Amino acid sequence: MSGKFYITTPIYYVNDKPHIGHAYTTILADVLSRYHRAEGDDVFFLTGLDEHGQKVQQAAEKRNVEPKQHCDEMAPRFLELWDKLHISNDDFIRTTEQRHIKVVQNILQTVYDNGDIYEDEYVGLYSISEERFITEKEAESGEFRDIKKLKEKNYFFRMSKYQQALIDHINDNPAFIQPVHRKNEILGFLRKPLGDLCISRPKTRLAWGIDLPFDNDYVTYVWFDALINYVTATGYGVDEDSYKKWWPCEYHLIGKDILTTHTVYWPTMLMSANMPLPKTIFAHGWWLSGESKMSKSLGNVVNPLDLIEEYGVDPVRYYLMREMVLGQDANFTMESFIKRYNSDLANDFGNLLSRVSKLIEKNFDGIIPNPLKNSDAENIIQSSAEKTVELIHNLIHKMKVNDAIEETMQFIRGVNKYMEQQAPWKLVKEDKESAGRVLYTAAEALRIGTLLLTPVMPHRTEFVLETLNAKGTDLHWGGLKPGTKLKQHSPLFPRVNVKKETQKQTKQLKKKTITIEDFEKLGLKTAEIISAEKVEGADKLYKLQILLGDEKRQIVSGIADHYSLDELVGKMIVVVSNLEPAAIRGVESKGMLLAASRKKELSLIVIDGDKIESGEKVY
Ligand code: MSP
Repeated sequence: MSGKFYITTPIYYVNDKPHIGHAYTTILADVLSRYHRAEGDDVFFLTGLDEHGQKVQQAAEKRNVEPKQHCDEMAPRFLELWDKLHISNDDFIRTTEQRHIKVVQNILQTVYDNGDIYEDEYVGLYSISEERFITEKEAESGEFRDIKKLKEKNYFFRMSKYQQALIDHINDNPAFIQPVHRKNEILGFLRKPLGDLCISRPKTRLAWGIDLPFDNDYVTYVWFDALINYVTATGYGVDEDSYKKWWPCEYHLIGKDILTTHTVYWPTMLMSANMPLPKTIFAHGWWLSGESKMSKSLGNVVNPLDLIEEYGVDPVRYYLMREMVLGQDANFTMESFIKRYNSDLANDFGNLLSRVSKLIEKNFDGIIPNPLKNSDAENIIQSSAEKTVELIHNLIHKMKVNDAIEETMQFIRGVNKYMEQQAPWKLVKEDKESAGRVLYTAAEALRIGTLLLTPVMPHRTEFVLETLNAKGTDLHWGGLKPGTKLKQHSPLFPRVNVKKETQKQTKQLKKKTITIEDFEKLGLKTAEIISAEKVEGADKLYKLQILLGDEKRQIVSGIADHYSLDELVGKMIVVVSNLEPAAIRGVESKGMLLAASRKKELSLIVIDGDKIESGEKVY
């Protein structure tokens, strides 16, 4: 049964060029859109850019350009990547477009007229990097940068008013938040009272945003602006039929990092504006590099354009879709990328095409033979094809994209096995008719497998279908026409030389620099040495008691050859305060001091002058 299918990606911040994490969500939306189009659904696939707010303003300032100019220069980078990744989006929205500004103001006015926006004065700690007020506790955690005390009049959205309605909606609509562990996470969050949402920023602090329609000394908080993009693109307020046709959407695809904004802010905003809620918000996991999320700020991101350049677009799409279990995190490594490429694409898929086409070329003058009548072995392949088609349909509807791909590959592996068992290269010598039947069956199975992989790899699958001279998208057995001529072709996925790749990566790793955020992870702080003593049985070690602000700590350090106990006391040194505690010769040590050393010489890093107290951050 076909219907309409509206799917969205988050709109991405234009503070830097797109990376593999952005590419992932967009490819996922593309793959789902293509599956649904292939099934006859009327699809609307939306992606775009989030261009307002502090992050973008700061990125522009850094480059010394106006925010709008910055956005105009960044947008083509995303478009270029989507083009290279063969993204088939139907619309591309930028929040600086007039069509969007109008809708945001329209919805804000509606919410205001409903009495859901009020003015209040707020005094609190504000983190510039996070663009929000933070609690005292958060400020103390040391995880936030650029904290200022601010007193401000602002506008607040009565989010709290909709708390119960939201809980009820989540409970009544099991598909609303997926996967289920994310739903539980949000229900857990909603057990505590929900606050109201500050939805304005005074222009004195942030000018880069959409004016509040009821007070133009303020711009709209970037999330209140950004989320609305999903309805702007449907034609809300401009083309009623189009809006009614597409909204609510079937899927908002998001990363787990933006779950609360999508499942709490957004639905309550819609409730207040009297609009239907999206059917499903689906949160996927993160691409990790080692233990950490790949992100711009960590600088550990893979540039998708480099990968495409090197291996082609389809292997990149394939890897990202196959490797991540939807909803969980996945580790991106070049090693696993190359492994998948060689085993799944070059060996299983590529080999089947090259075997089938070579044998047909050699023994049947490149003309697809007539299968005549199936034997048992062919019946098995045929029914396996039919089952796989059905299975893929079900898996895609359950958002199990990686399983759908794996099932298709299993089917292709099964056809390779069938070829080995039937050995048409031998069979052709005794029984050409049977060899023809085997080759037809393998080619037809390859056609069906290829069609099933088309949404994932639209480019190389087209190449296979052209080689097989197979037109159309019919998934029924028998679509391949005997008597048509095969095309000559180059290898589908040439194998990658693993050794060469590893050498290249090692070189790249050596060049690697760290970002300011990597550095900040170190937790360097000033510390005053208040007493020092020897560690029994260890000539080189001292046990130091140090003061870090109000906190007293003990660290063990191998500096006994370089300093006497007396000269240490009173020194203001620098320590790595967040080092995992360790026992050195059985003595507890919580931190590490910094010193410079050359051969046998060693000097402590000490703080110059007496202006700095202990426990201060060191940059
Ligand atoms: N602008 C907001 C979203 C507003 S939507 C109304 C934003 N933008 S972002 O540029 O930071 O992109 C966030 C999205 O990019 C994530 O939700 C996720 O879809 C994707 N990813 C970014 N890094 C990622 C990984 N390391 N792994 C997987 N996806 C990641 O937040």
